[in-house]
Amino acid sequence: MKPLLQALKGNILSPPPVWFMRQAGRYLPEYREVRSRAGSFLDLCKTPELAEKVTLQPVHRFGMDGAILFSDILVVAEALGQKLWFEEGTGPRLEALDSADDLNRLTTRHFHEHLHPVYQTLERLQESVPATVTRIGFAGAPWTVASYMIEGGSSRDFLKSRLWAYRDPNSFARLIELLVDVTSDYLVHQVSAGAEAVQLFDSWAGIWPEAEFRRWSLEPCRRIIERVHESYPEVPVIYFPRGAGVLYEACAVESGAQALSLDSSVPLRWARDVLQPHVTLQGNLDPACLVAGGRAMESAAESLLRMLDEGPFIFNLGHGIDKTTPPEHVTELMEIIRGKSAQAPT
Ligand code: CP3
Repeated sequence: MKPLLQALKGNILSPPPVWFMRQAGRYLPEYREVRSRAGSFLDLCKTPELAEKVTLQPVHRFGMDGAILFSDILVVAEALGQKLWFEEGTGPRLEALDSADDLNRLTTRHFHEHLHPVYQTLERLQESVPATVTRIGFAGAPWTVASYMIEGGSSRDFLKSRLWAYRDPNSFARLIELLVDVTSDYLVHQVSAGAEAVQLFDSWAGIWPEAEFRRWSLEPCRRIIERVHESYPEVPVIYFPRGAGVLYEACAVESGAQALSLDSSVPLRWARDVLQPHVTLQGNLDPACLVAGGRAMESAAESLLRMLDEGPFIFNLGHGIDKTTPPEHVTELMEIIRGKSAQAPT
């Protein structure tokens, strides 16, 4: 079995398998070259030959154990009929949802047709991903996607979305339910098209108090994971409730996910003692260490390996690679992970 899949099944590997969130992207000159040919970022996501190519770029350059589908979490909003565009420098923009009435603008009628290029990219990757490398599909969690749909883009505090949830929980629940449904379906289709594992990104999970965290983040994700497993019981799900703090424990015990992706703030000893008995852990090097390189990167990577690689573990970052990361630092980090843990006693 492929190393990343073995780790997701709960096996302990030395060295641990490794991949990085946002491993394809603007820090790579070969990505910038393809991106400039594609036109916009969204055109790149929707052109299977080019999306395939950029998915493979980091795998070929650095030899990661995972190849994550090249796309974006927000294509789901677009597939529901919401206008989406990316502005250079400001990131994603959407025609914001302002009220319960606006939910009527959303439709599932063309959902899979719209996402067809994503499925085609995964089908192509079945032929081109190296034999030992795992194909990872993904989707945004309902809360994180809903927050972009309501704010109309990135936000510092997601206040508009939080106020909607507090003032009109019924219509907010309707949006979350819709996203649970389509996201479950989307992931099942990704697996049918060739994804061997899937990751759910709940990048803004950490913004909620406990009760709302459970209602709007954990419970919707638990239901999606259940739905994926109804169709594909063997396909591992990686859950990334970024910023969940001590609620990571509830995620480990209650979500049904095979692995938890840890953000960089999660203490390693606590993660080892409290979370790792339940699930495979993935993470959590600070992406800034990878930009910094040198001693800072080396010592952080070594303590991560020392602390977590005696249980089921996948080396990753605590969040996506920063666009200012020097590619040579990624090469050096791969050497640290593979070299150092190969020598460690097992
Ligand atoms: O991990 C990978 O390599 C796969 C591809 C991937 C992208 N986005 C490509 C991308 C994945 C898994 C994502 C997930 C995503 N997208 C998340 C969840 C993870 C996280 O980072 O918290 C979120 C919140 C988004 C929404 C999004 N897309 C934002 C906020 C931005 C702008 C950020 C920026 O750096 O400009 C994007 C754009 C985006 N998504 C880029 C890439 C490579 C940059 C687009 C470009 O080439 O100009």
